[in-house]
Amino acid sequence: MAILITGGCGYIGSHTCIEMIKAGYDIVVLDNYYNSKPEALNRTRELAGKDFPFYECDIRDAEGLRRIFKENKIEAVIHFAGLKAVGESVQIPLKYYDNNVNGTVVLCQVMAEMGCKRMIFSSSATVYGEKNPSPLTEDMEIGGCTNPYGRTKFMIEGILSDLCVSDPEWSVVLLRYFNPIGAHESGRIGEDPNGIPNNLMPYVSQVAIGKLARLSIFGDDYDTPDGTGVRDFIHVVDLARGHVKATDYALAHTGAEAVNLGTGTGYSVLDLVNAFKEANGVDVPYVIVDRRPGDLGAVYSDPSKAASLLGWKAEKGLEDMCRDSWRWQSQNPKGYAE
Ligand code: NAD
Ligand code: UD1
Repeated sequence: MAILITGGCGYIGSHTCIEMIKAGYDIVVLDNYYNSKPEALNRTRELAGKDFPFYECDIRDAEGLRRIFKENKIEAVIHFAGLKAVGESVQIPLKYYDNNVNGTVVLCQVMAEMGCKRMIFSSSATVYGEKNPSPLTEDMEIGGCTNPYGRTKFMIEGILSDLCVSDPEWSVVLLRYFNPIGAHESGRIGEDPNGIPNNLMPYVSQVAIGKLARLSIFGDDYDTPDGTGVRDFIHVVDLARGHVKATDYALAHTGAEAVNLGTGTGYSVLDLVNAFKEANGVDVPYVIVDRRPGDLGAVYSDPSKAASLLGWKAEKGLEDMCRDSWRWQSQNPKGYAE
């Protein structure tokens, strides 16, 4: 029996493939390479030390999905495949609803048809919206998302929960990620954003390597200790290990469970910049600019449900995250392009 990993060539997916294999699972990977490259797959295979089947396939292609299920015995799906750029989702919402929401519906239809009813889904802390105060707990009412990307995650959580109500054989774990950063400690795989990064850590890394002149810090007048935004940064390898535990859980239970994957500790943008400089002995010039519309002051998790339900806890600290991000960036200044 194997676990199908959709979007397995992406940033979080590639790290999860390695941790799943390390934990003894057989995996099958699917990706359409929309936001990833074959080189990521080559390196994932190299780091896993084991080969696994790969299908270049879109999750909206029902026939392509059926073929994967017919050629492999799939007992559960870890579903990463999706579009994730918040700003872009405002410009081209239909593409986001089609890819993320419709894609998930097609995937679930084929899964049900093939008798595979267990899924671990990549949700996001963004589903908590603007109103809930941190630390965020899974029993808070979700919604009130400020952009189409966030709404796709909210809608998919609802669809998967409805599915579990309609058919008690379904088992779904909705993993709400906080802010994944860092890279595999080998420096061989990591986050490879297209163009100018939107997210903090890739931007900091590209400033440190001289590709970008300086970081713009979006606001220093939030109600936080130093006025800059506070986030729950989590090492991508810890996050990947959370998927192993969620898979163990989904195979042994039914019903839908939402689970935060965070460390429970908030660090500010300035904390991260200073930790990055210190861990790596590099300079990160920055300038304070206006707040970015839609940003919140402090967002961090209460991670206790992940500990009690899944037996998972983040282990890596901010220094590990900064050191591993820099190793990836400095060894691969052009990402997977070289
Ligand atoms: P990523 O873009 O690196 O990986 C997603 C992968 O899915 C890519 O390889 C892409 O080519 C593939 N893909 C996209 N649409 C597809 C489709 N229709 N069919 C097949 N493959 C498709 O992103 P990531 O950072 O690894 O994120 C993985 C998941 O986690 C996404 O669903 C994302 O929304 C969610 N998430 C990410 C973050 C984050 O900060 N990175 C935070 C919260 C949630
Ligand atoms: C963003 C998305 C969120 C998504 C997540 C992961 C928004 C509003 N939210 O979260 O939906 O799930 O990315 O993809 O876009 N910052 C700077 N300068 C920069 C970049 C960021 O100061 O150049 C600050 C931000 O203001 C924020 C913190 O760094 O305080 C983290 O930003 P970012 O990495 O973009 O993540 P989020 O905004 O938390």
